Amino acid sequence: MDRFRITGGQTLAGTIRISGAKNSALPCMAAGILSSETVTLHNVPYVRDCLTMRRLLEDLGATVLTPELHTHKITAANIEVYEAPYDLVKTMRASVLALGPLVARFGKAKVSLPGGCAIGTRPVDLHLRGLERLGAHVTLEAGYVIARAPESPDGARPRLRGGTVDFEKITVTGTENLMMAASLARGQTILNNAACEPEVEDLAALLNRMGARIRGAGTPQITIDGVESLGAAEHTIIPDRIETGTFIIAAAITGGDLEIKDCIPAHSAALIERLRCAGVDIEEVNPSTLRVRCDLANLKACDVTTKEHPGFPTDMQAQFMALMTQAHGTSNITETIFENRFMQVAEMMRMGANITTHGNTAHVEGARQLMGTRVQASDLRASACLVLAGLAATGETIIERVYHIDRGYEKIESKLRHVGAHIERLRESVTAPLA
Ligand code: UD1
Repeated sequence: MDRFRITGGQTLAGTIRISGAKNSALPCMAAGILSSETVTLHNVPYVRDCLTMRRLLEDLGATVLTPELHTHKITAANIEVYEAPYDLVKTMRASVLALGPLVARFGKAKVSLPGGCAIGTRPVDLHLRGLERLGAHVTLEAGYVIARAPESPDGARPRLRGGTVDFEKITVTGTENLMMAASLARGQTILNNAACEPEVEDLAALLNRMGARIRGAGTPQITIDGVESLGAAEHTIIPDRIETGTFIIAAAITGGDLEIKDCIPAHSAALIERLRCAGVDIEEVNPSTLRVRCDLANLKACDVTTKEHPGFPTDMQAQFMALMTQAHGTSNITETIFENRFMQVAEMMRMGANITTHGNTAHVEGARQLMGTRVQASDLRASACLVLAGLAATGETIIERVYHIDRGYEKIESKLRHVGAHIERLRESVTAPLA
């Protein structure tokens, strides 16, 4: 397994470009299943999760061409399999995004239940209840969800029917799954208490280009008028707001000066507000560029509570915590979206941080000098937190299991090296003795 070696204490300076959003690319790739014509996606990030989604599409029988590294041409004309197997779903929970499109277009789908997950139980019950509201017959068999669309009275293909879905809790992929399913349903669907994340809006933009009729994406109520079929489309994935936020914090935690290009500052508004409150200087140079500077002597503790968009994103909680270890004062960080999402804390403490947790709140005693040591990445965002801590620490930090980071950050080590970080990837040894 690859590792990162970081020698901390370097002040970052220069320009970093943001890649496409993983959490937008994944549902947009799954949307390819909805059409027999080619869906072309640009700005797909080169990250492990997108490769996993590509494999899933290919296993179903779709063809995926990549004429350029970040362009995917997905053609799902010859789908022969309607199943997302356990092996794929266990490595990437977002595989569940195949469920809505498969049942909507082919009337049947079999998708493994995600099972245990590093950041809590993360069920998919809301996806399933939503599909039932659209007339699907859903059963659970041997760890798999099997969904079938109702037979049509006129003998036409089995097809979902429009309905009203009131999400009990806001779910991002649940909203996306239902939006895709409803696009091909007979009649109108209304999704209430829908997720407002920019990635939901981006997916709706793609679906509308394919011929769907979706209004209200980006608000808590989405209306979808189902259509008979969807066609070809070309779409550019939005910039990754979590990668943007991670590099903003990289600039801050090293007392650096970074220009962050190809981002959408409005998508990071809640984070930017909290960082300004902590004393980080963030300037919007133009609608796609931020300049971040920070004088660590002036960095002060600031509380955050994670919330659904437009609130403070749970996916930035761990990185914000890394920064707060360097701020003057004590900050309280409250996680409301996922249970068990303080996986970074134990490793941060080993680096010298002073953090105590009470339930879903972490109290971070700031202005601590972190010290490099050997730490282990546990999930995607906790791993990003350790990279940031390593940049601020004295001496050498070795981060094990960086495959977690590779799931969602495109070449993070080269991007950081380019702006002055001392970080290298130590490749897994290929000289292990044969069994
Ligand atoms: C998405 C993001 C992930 C982010 C999360 C919250 C993708 C691919 N992943 O994950 O990076 O951290 O949103 O912003 O976009 N829940 C249920 N039942 C369900 C579905 C969800 O109880 O059927 C609960 C979850 O356990 C969690 C909360 O709802 O407590 C929000 O989860 P959800 O928005 O669904 O997260 P994901 O879509 O999996």
